[in-house]
Amino acid sequence: KQILFAASEAVPFIKTGGLADVVGSLPKYFDKEKYDVRVMLPKYLCMKEEWRNQLQYRTHFYMDLNWRTEYVGILELQYEGITFYFIDNEYYFSGWAPYGDMYADIEKFAFFSKAVLSALPVIGFRPDIIHCHDWQTGLIPIFLDNFRYGNEYYRGIKTIMTIHNLKFQGTWDTKRVQDITGLPSYYFVPDKLEAYKDANYLKGGIVYADRITTVSSTYAEEIKTPFYGEKLDGLMNARAGSLSGIVNGIDYDDYNPETDKHIARNYSVKNFRKEKVKNKVALQEELNLERDNHAMMIGIVSRLTDQKGFDLIDCVLDELCQDAIQIVALGTGEAKYENMFRHYAWKYPGKVSANIYYSEPMSHKIYASCDAFLMPSLFEPCGLSQLMSLRYGTLPIVRETGGLKDTVEPYNEYEKTGTGFSFSNYNAHEMMATVRYAEQIFYDRKRDWNKIVERAMEQDFSWNHSAREYEKLYDEL
Ligand code: ADP
Ligand code: GLC
Repeated sequence: KQILFAASEAVPFIKTGGLADVVGSLPKYFDKEKYDVRVMLPKYLCMKEEWRNQLQYRTHFYMDLNWRTEYVGILELQYEGITFYFIDNEYYFSGWAPYGDMYADIEKFAFFSKAVLSALPVIGFRPDIIHCHDWQTGLIPIFLDNFRYGNEYYRGIKTIMTIHNLKFQGTWDTKRVQDITGLPSYYFVPDKLEAYKDANYLKGGIVYADRITTVSSTYAEEIKTPFYGEKLDGLMNARAGSLSGIVNGIDYDDYNPETDKHIARNYSVKNFRKEKVKNKVALQEELNLERDNHAMMIGIVSRLTDQKGFDLIDCVLDELCQDAIQIVALGTGEAKYENMFRHYAWKYPGKVSANIYYSEPMSHKIYASCDAFLMPSLFEPCGLSQLMSLRYGTLPIVRETGGLKDTVEPYNEYEKTGTGFSFSNYNAHEMMATVRYAEQIFYDRKRDWNKIVERAMEQDFSWNHSAREYEKLYDEL
């Protein structure tokens, strides 16, 4: 079977969040005998030069986007056994980041989606299934439907729409989207591309895709409710028969405490008791925290947005800082949260470290060095950071929502089971009580704590299981 992934980001080329981790790592884990999985991405100018320079020019053609005629270049790179195609157009992909404002992005990804389909006969790869990821590729199933009229080539190609985050839908005024895409007015009605009077790319993708998946079973259920449904819960219910949840994995080669090149000291489930703490001390030195190998260090690595529950942290951080803990945060995003962490770092020097930037190596150091990882999300389709933490024996403290609920088993002190700590209500003091419970185990019952670490490190959240689930889905189609 031939499968094409279409997405707006993938590691190692370009990443703003977990979507890139998934699109960049999942294709490697399919059974190569049976599935030829290739990936198509935009060729962003802001992509790291080391990658941009390696891309091989393949061909180019011109494509109509309504009244515009646009250049479509195609470049190619073989990377770790996977073929990656890159769609080139300097007008659309020259920004300093993959995404800009919605006004620009809405046209950029209409171009990308149509270019993906138009490129197929040119490169000679006819997929059986196009696997679309998030709103940026939501128009692909619609264009495909439109292409099918009078064009044999496109008949029979199936589509899957994977929702990594229902909050981002890609919406704009219907008239402009009609002008950009040149799609007939037939599509611009409430049971197709339109939602609440606007054109909505993700909705269009969901309506037209053959199957819909999201990145955890719990999130697949949650989005059928008004609280999580982002005003599309009605549609999610209507398509419930075609909707399923497949939990994400992470790349076990990139995130491996035994071989990780970014961390001070490698360790495994056998020797973490002695070795892991050396990473903590190294990080304390690097970030000017009090040097204390006994202090419980709590990590945060995240986009700083409302989704991730930072208002809960803001509420109780003063109180928590009275405890014997250290907090290391790494992230960028909304100014109010960036400043919140800067404020607490200023107020509690030596105890709180605010690192307001993006850094792959620093993220690895935090996963490896901390004792616990805090992720009290308001909603979380899957979440990868908690999986990385588990792998490094850094116990996640999470809210029971979406993928967090599916991947972190709360510690049960009677049964001696569990891999982390969790709370259910979106409530700052409930979160604080859970953090304090974790502190108690950490300080007073170290043997129990270490047992939890052992179980956490022994979990298998590699792609091995979930890649088989996707294969099953491809076979069904
Ligand atoms: P989301 O996709 O919603 O941002 P995930 O948990 O699925 O959340 O994925 C986040 C990914 O981005 C993880 O790989 C995490 O390590 C990484 N990440 C987030 N912020 C930063 C940062 N400032 N520096 C480095 N990596 C980051
Ligand atoms: C989104 C979600 C996150 C998920 C990631 C990859 O960014 O916010 O929960 O892990 O996509 O699927």
